Order: sequence, then structure tokens, then C-alpha cells
Amino acid sequence: MAVKIGFIGCGGMNRGHMKSLSQIKDAQMVGFCDIDPDRARACAAEYGGSPFTDHRLMLKQADLDAVYVAVPPHAHGTLEIDAVRAGKAIFVEKPVNISNEQARKVLKEIDKSGVINSVGYHWRYMEATDQAARILRDNTVGMVIGYWMGGMPGVAWWRRIEQSGGQFVEQCTHIFDLARYLVGDVKTVSAFTALRALQDVPDLNVPDVGTASMEFRSGAIGTISTSCILRQGFEVGLRLFAKDLMVHIGGNQLTVTKPGKSETITPGGNANLTEDKIFVSAVKSHNPSKIRCTYEDGAKTLAVTLAAMESAGTGRTVSL
Ligand SMILES: NC(=O)c1ccc[n+]([C@@H]2O[C@H](COP(=O)([O-])OP(=O)(O)OC[C@H]3O[C@@H](n4cnc5c(N)ncnc54)[C@H](O)[C@@H]3O)[C@@H](O)[C@H]2O)c1
Repeated sequence: MAVKIGFIGCGGMNRGHMKSLSQIKDAQMVGFCDIDPDRARACAAEYGGSPFTDHRLMLKQADLDAVYVAVPPHAHGTLEIDAVRAGKAIFVEKPVNISNEQARKVLKEIDKSGVINSVGYHWRYMEATDQAARILRDNTVGMVIGYWMGGMPGVAWWRRIEQSGGQFVEQCTHIFDLARYLVGDVKTVSAFTALRALQDVPDLNVPDVGTASMEFRSGAIGTISTSCILRQGFEVGLRLFAKDLMVHIGGNQLTVTKPGKSETITPGGNANLTEDKIFVSAVKSHNPSKIRCTYEDGAKTLAVTLAAMESAGTGRTVSL
């Protein structure tokens, strides 16, 4: 039997998941909810199933096994709690929230119900990441340098810090999460942010540049920098340094540099499709073992990025 899926949010990201899920034979899309009725109707018309404007009605009326939640970061919380209380597996897009307290409330419900859960940190599913993890397994990472240098997303909610959480929390979160995945938990964070180049953008209160220094529990140290001021020259990635070894993950491209030798490979694969396949299979088999980012793990990445924002605001180092 196919896994019956509903969507809360029918915007850009969930449309991406719908496209992937349409290629997965064990997935059946049956419910589409958005507070914008046109968006819900358009998805229902394209993929079959029923449109809704109220997620509670969808949870009640549609016969669902799982729910994908991809809404603006500030809108998370009640949506997940309602889905989990209704016994549905949940796939939540990053960042899981913009409040640690809200995320803890969702986690409590997940722990109570035991539903399958996954977060859309798809960099964890890239083949470049797999290969990097294998190489790093026998090495002590001393330092990481991450960066997310790009442009400003077009959606209106992104410009407001009280809705998106800002650049560390929203886009650059992928790099914080990848660093956590490969190097482990973070102990302390110290960060700076500024609004330097985009002061002419109407309604913007998100800093457009930022840098965070971190100490990991393992003892490794690192920095992650971010900017949204570029209209050209998108560069995102993570460099990891060990003795006589540099590993660079830039998108799905991996460069490994050792004394006398540097090799760059592009392993291929589609991490977004892989994470959806794994989630559907986990729900179908009631076995979450292949899921690489649980809600609990996603909430830990949120805590690091919120700590960076807190540090930038207070000028103090924040312990996690
Ligand atoms: N994994 C990735 O690489 C990636 C890429 C892009 C976006 N995202 C994430 O996906 C999330 C959504 O981003 P997006 O680009 O799809 O935004 P979007 O603005 O295109 O879509 C969000 C949709 O949610 C709807 N919505 C808001 N509140 C709702 C509610 N209570 N019930 C039902 N629908 C509601 C909005 O009307 C909108 O249609 C964000 O958290 C973003 O960070 C992840």
C-alpha cells in the first residue's frame, strides 16, 4: 500500500517535494493545504487529491499517513503538534522553527507519540557528504570553515527577522547542520552580524552579512560566514581540515587534498529525491533507521544558529 501524504504549505519548497514524490511509486499525494486557496487548488489539480485552507480540516478529512510541512519559519509549531497528535509521520523543512521553546514543544509531542519524523537538511544525503564522512572517519578534524554567500530569497517573509530568523537561521543553516553532521555538537558560539549593503531594500531588517566562530564538543574549532548581498557568484560550502588533509564539500562536489595530490569529483545523485525516498520508505516500513536528520537533530541545529544570533545581538559568547 502506498504512503498517503498531505502537504501543509504549497509554496516553492513543498512543490519541490511534490515533484520528487511524483517519481516515488510508494508515495501517493492526497491532501494539499495552504492559507492561499489558489496555491492549494493548483497543487491538487496537478497531482490529484483535495485542496484545503485549514490544516486541521485536512488532518481530519484526508486519509493521511504522513504530512510534509514547508511554511515560513515563524509559522511552524502548532502545525506539527496537530499533525503529530493526529498520529501522522512528519517531514519538516528546515529551519524547524525560529524559537527553541516552540521546537521543544513539538519534540515533546513527537517523543510522546513516537511518529516517524525527518527534517529537510538534504546536504546530509549528498554523495559528496557520504564520501567526505568516510574519509574523515579516521582523521581528527581540527578546524572547519563554512560559507553561504549568495543572494536574498524572493519571498517577502525572508526580509523580516521575526519571520525568517535571519540568514544564519534560514539559508546558512544548511552549513551549520553539515558541520554538526560531520564534526559533532557545538559547545559555544560567538558571532557578529551587520546590515551593510542592502539598506535600500524596503522592509528589510535581516542583517546581510554575518560570521560565527564556534567551539565543538570534540575540541575542533570553526567559523561559518554568510551573506545575501550577491546577485551573481553564489558560493556555498564547507572546508574541513585535519592533519595533512583538506576536504571541501561545495554543493555535490568534493575536493580532497593531501600532500602531493588534490582530487575533485562530482559524484552525482539527487539528495532531495533521496531524502524523500528514505522518508517514504521509513513510514511504509515503520523503520526510521535510514533517516539522517530527525526532528531532535534539526532542533539542535536551530539552537546553534539562534545562539549565533543571540551572540551577535548581545556581544557575548553563548554556551549551548
Ligand atoms: N531544503 C532547502 O534547500 C529549502 C529550500 C527552500 C526553502 N526551504 C524551506 O522551506 C520553507 C518554505 O519555504 P518556501 O520557499 O516554500 O516558501 P513559500 O513562501 O514559497 O511557501 C510557503 C507557503 O506556506 C504557506 N503557509 C503559511 N502559513 C501556512 C499555514 N498556517 N498553513 C498552510 N500554509 C501556510 C504560504 O501561504 C506559502 O504558500 C522554509 O522554511 C524554507 O527555509 C528549504
